[in-house]
Order: sequence, then structure tokens, then C-alpha cells
Amino acid sequence: MNIRPLTDDERDRVVAAGLGLARLPRDDGSFYLVAWDGDDPLGHAHLALDDPPEVQDVEVLERHRGRGIGTALVETAAREAAARGYDRLTITVSVGKPDVQALYERIGFRDAGLPLRRVTGTVLIRTGPLTVDDTLRTLSISTAAVRRESDTDHRRTT
Ligand SMILES: CC(C)(COP(=O)(O)OP(=O)(O)OC[C@H]1O[C@@H](n2cnc3c(N)ncnc32)[C@H](O)[C@@H]1OP(=O)(O)O)[C@@H](O)C(=O)NCCC(=O)NCCS
Repeated sequence: MNIRPLTDDERDRVVAAGLGLARLPRDDGSFYLVAWDGDDPLGHAHLALDDPPEVQDVEVLERHRGRGIGTALVETAAREAAARGYDRLTITVSVGKPDVQALYERIGFRDAGLPLRRVTGTVLIRTGPLTVDDTLRTLSISTAAVRRESDTDHRRTT
């Protein structure tokens, strides 16, 4: 598996594989990381370079879940944030998704101590307007605490 920033000419291939690529392109350096097996996209995560930066839209194709790809994407995002000088990284997770929250906590994310955030209304994603009604918890991690790539247990992904 190889994780790298998405290039414009790879976008159609990622969408055709069944991934959402929901976040609209921004002109501030924010970017998608995509996990590949050869020419086949397996999953993605968006790194929004806000202050603090945030990992968003973590998605792995259903048939490839449970092999550590989501973990590897989030850890790579943390290293990319660290390389850009950010010492913290945040992620928000729906209060209705305790399994996903547990996944992030295993990586080292902890509750950021912020109030739960209710999100309602319409947001614009790649495919058009999307109606949302969700309650989000914010988690954060020190980017220095994320293991280096060489420490990653590759056995889970093979
Ligand atoms: C959440 C998601 C990205 C995890 O990807 P992944 O590659 O399966 O993650 P990993 O293999 O690194 O970790 C798997 C762990 O994630 C958790 N998990 C959460 N939702 C899961 C799901 N639908 N299927 C499998 N595992 C899930 C489990 O605790 C699992 O632990 P286990 O392997 O001990 O059973 C993936 O399930 C997904 O794309 N879900 C739909 C989109 C979504 O909810 N994204 C999160 C938005 S905040």
C-alpha cells in the first residue's frame, strides 16, 4: 500500500472506484491523501490546513476495511501536518459512531475538551448540496506523538 497526496489527474479514478471525495478543493494547500494498491485506490482522508489542521472525510472502500488502511491514512495526515510545522491535529466524529471514535483513540486522539457541536442545514460537497443533522465531538492529538512510518505494522495491510 502506498499513501500519497492526490493529484488532479487522479481524481476521476478515485471517484470511479466508489470513494466519495466529498470535500471541495480549496486554494490554501489543503489536500487529499489517497491509499493505493498499485493503480487501485483503497481509501482517502482530507487534510484541511486550518489552524489547528483537521483530518476530514476519512473513508475506506468497504471491502478493504479492517486492514489498517484508515489508521494509516490518519497517521500519514498527522505526519504531513507535523512536516508543515503544526504541533496539533484535530478530527471530529459523530457521537453516533463510537467505533470510529475508538479507532481514533487507538491512534492517540483524545477529547479536545470542546463542547459538542451540533451541525444542521445544508453543506456543499463534490456531488452537490447535502442535508446534515449531526452532533460532533472534537478529538485532538499531538502530531509529535504519532508513530513514524517505519514503526507502522505493515502486516495488517498485506
Ligand atoms: C472508519 C473507516 C475509515 C475505518 O477504516 P479502516 O481501514 O477499516 O480502519 P482500520 O482498519 O485502520 O481500523 C479498523 C477499526 O475501525 C473501527 N471501525 C469503525 N467503523 C468500522 C466499519 N464500518 N467497518 C470496520 N471497522 C470499523 C473498528 O473498531 C475497527 O477495529 P478492528 O479492526 O479492531 O475491528 C471505515 O470504516 C469507513 O470508511 N467508514 C465509513 C466512513 C466513515 O464513517 N468515516 C469516518 C468519518 S469520521
